[in-house]
Amino acid sequence: MDELVANPIDRIGGRAVVEAIVDDFYARVAADAVQRAIYPESLEPGIRKLKLFLVQWLGGEPLYSDLYGHPRLRRRHFPFVIDELAAGRWLRYMREAMTVQGVSAEEQAAIFKGLGPLAHHMVNANEDIPREPLGDIRMV
Ligand code: HEM
Repeated sequence: MDELVANPIDRIGGRAVVEAIVDDFYARVAADAVQRAIYPESLEPGIRKLKLFLVQWLGGEPLYSDLYGHPRLRRRHFPFVIDELAAGRWLRYMREAMTVQGVSAEEQAAIFKGLGPLAHHMVNANEDIPREPLGDIRMV
């Protein structure tokens, strides 16, 4: 039965599971002082946006792009200083959150084939790039 479900999002249990994963992931970020320091004072906007984005990235409805346009993730992360350690922690907390929320090892293997390179692509700590806040801008 499971192999008949085409999208990763459906295979892992739909939007509710993605939202639980993001809540769990952010609780881990909040508990790590070094990782937490990268984020703004309020974690709420990031929580909301990561939920919308992951639904879309896992093959669900384009909830994120409907509101903000093209993800342009690397550009949107410019205001935040991200080094290799931060990328590694991001991936570790995402893995832990998915495991706790019941995503199988097989599904995780497929998902992290994409997320691994994506997280490392976000590293920008030693770059001379604009660090101004971007807020909720819509990108094309
Ligand atoms: C590599 C380590 C990463 C760190 C340290 C990091 C950190 C952050 C921070 C600090 C924000 C800003 C939250 C806010 O504006 O309130 C953010 C936003 C976001 N992150 Fe990451 N992130 C990382 C990797 C990723 C990856 C791999 C993805 C995609 C799977 C991702 C998806 C997003 C999305 C969609 C947003 C919202 C962008 C917007 O519309 O402003 N991040 N991230």
